[in-house]
Amino acid sequence: MFSDKYKLIVLIFLSISFLFYSFYLYKKPPHETENATALEMEGKMIWQKKKNCTSCHQLYGLGGHLGPDLTNITQRRTTPQIEAFLKNGINQMPNFNLSQHEMEALISFLTAVNKSGNGDPRTYKLYIDGTISQ
Ligand code: HEC
Repeated sequence: MFSDKYKLIVLIFLSISFLFYSFYLYKKPPHETENATALEMEGKMIWQKKKNCTSCHQLYGLGGHLGPDLTNITQRRTTPQIEAFLKNGINQMPNFNLSQHEMEALISFLTAVNKSGNGDPRTYKLYIDGTISQ
């Protein structure tokens, strides 16, 4: 149907487009990141390992789905409210018997996660070059 020469031209065109687009994306400056504090890291480990919050909750939509996404929980709830949920449990969520220090670590981790962006992709702006911003 198409001549070999035509196919070769299309292949070269697509390869060059791919290379330019890759170069363009990699050249864009990365988002600024801050190193996590020791307390935030401790909270992250409680979240992931010790109490496995992630088996029921999501961050940026990833995780279990029994409970709500907690990416921006510190925006929606105050620290005393979150502590009250953790101390008493709520519906299917048990009381985890966390110490005050463990709760502080978890909340400081969740505060850092909240600062990293908006967890609801429906509010993201999509640009013509395929990138997004929040
Ligand atoms: C067994 C599953 C399960 C685990 C494990 C779990 N949760 Fe939950 N969590 C839930 C459910 C379900 C809800 C929602 C309850 C409701 O509103 O009916 C919830 C609610 C919450 C809320 C309140 C959310 C809101 O929108 O008000 C917070 C905060 C929370 N969980 C934090 C945590 C943290 C931190 C951990 C880890 C220590 C954790 N959860 C582990 C199931 C779980």
